[in-house]
Amino acid sequence: MSFTTEAKGTKRVVREKGSTTLEIGAGNKSEMSQRTFITLVRSIVQTAKLERVEKISLGAATLAFPQLKQLTDQELGSLVAQNLVMANYEFRTYKTPSKKDLPLVRSVQISGASKAFQAGIKKGVVIGQEVNACRELANTPGGDMTPQTLAKAAKLAVKGLPVSVRTLGVPEMQKLGMGAILGVGKGSQTPPTFTIMEYKGATGAPIVLAGKGITFDSGGINLKSGDGHEMHMDMSGAAAVIHAVALAARLKSKKHVIGLIPAAENMPGNGALRPHDILKSLSGKTIEVVNTDAEGRLVLADALTYAKRFKPSAVIDVATLTGSAMSALGLYASALLTRDEKLATELLKLSETSGDYLWQLPMWDEYEESVKSNVADVANCVPMPAGRYAGSINGGMFLWQFAQELNCPWAHLDIAPRMTSAPGDELAKGAAGEPVRLLYAFIEGWKP
Ligand code: BES
Ligand code: ZN
Ligand code: ZN
Repeated sequence: MSFTTEAKGTKRVVREKGSTTLEIGAGNKSEMSQRTFITLVRSIVQTAKLERVEKISLGAATLAFPQLKQLTDQELGSLVAQNLVMANYEFRTYKTPSKKDLPLVRSVQISGASKAFQAGIKKGVVIGQEVNACRELANTPGGDMTPQTLAKAAKLAVKGLPVSVRTLGVPEMQKLGMGAILGVGKGSQTPPTFTIMEYKGATGAPIVLAGKGITFDSGGINLKSGDGHEMHMDMSGAAAVIHAVALAARLKSKKHVIGLIPAAENMPGNGALRPHDILKSLSGKTIEVVNTDAEGRLVLADALTYAKRFKPSAVIDVATLTGSAMSALGLYASALLTRDEKLATELLKLSETSGDYLWQLPMWDEYEESVKSNVADVANCVPMPAGRYAGSINGGMFLWQFAQELNCPWAHLDIAPRMTSAPGDELAKGAAGEPVRLLYAFIEGWKP
């Protein structure tokens, strides 16, 4: 395998006795950046798959672009391995294997790699594997991924690792007063769960990650209309948190990390929440459910309050929270909402280097109008027609009502735009596995 200076997307395949040489266009070298490098590396695997090449060999020198010299050898090795592994994943669990399937790549040999580069490869392979495991969970259909299954998946993800996992069932949640998550689960045959993962690679205040775990989002009584919603992936935030914790443990991170997984199925069954029902959340605050389809923020409200007991050094929640984030940003960035400048700067920096891209939206006081209710302490959203505007900011403002009681830096990542891969990503269709890489980088780098 080698790169040429031809335009990206061009490729030449030279078949000789016993071997095939792939020549992939990398474009003008001076235009290379870490962003374009990531998709270029992935395109090696995608090209190999199309050409049914199962073993790839390349020289480390091929990967040394002057524009990437800010990366250490180890960082470069890790970046390359992560993206090769991510590009080699496809969701085939439910497909009967067929001869027509393009074979996955079985091995990549990189010659001439320094010790540091090799160490990076080892690490990057683990990162890529955890991203893919996250994608596998998110891709699993809602019928096979209930709140119970998701809780079990959290246990399975850290099997053999020094991570404790505990799941609260309905009676325990009732006892604690988690009325928001319990409310969301009421319309479903499969009850909600609340899972707590703890990895203690150090003592001291932990980082708490909370992931929206709606195993299927029908919208509830405010039923979604039409198709194409792919709402079995509405637990993508939870999947990312589970595998970020697993990743920290596998790479023996010297950090204290807690993962919270509030999981429920949002269904319009007999017991379902009605529009304008009022819930009492774990915080004690009452919530008017203006729209049953704004359910993610409800389960996260209880998770954010639950996080308080750990006296965290930072809290990040991850959620496929709003379609509005996609209206604002399209398919290529998740929305970052926070009132902590230091945390914002750190996350934005890491988003560029990890490849899980973020773009910040404002959380000014003015937007707090959106959570006002005439009948309860807060409302879960703004009624139409004004509800059409700034939906992702409003979602962030709602979460802030609970997060402000944490007394530590907090950020909300609305990953709806990056729930699935997009054209040009050089990844298989379906779950994108974001932002596992970013969360791990944050765990490693955060200095309160
Ligand atoms: N899970 C959806 C948001 C979503 C939509 C994620 C598309 C990924 C792709 C969320 O629960 C939802 O339905 N949000 C509503 C909120 C509204 C009722 C205030 C939305 O965005 O329309
Ligand atoms: Zn919804
Ligand atoms: Zn949802």
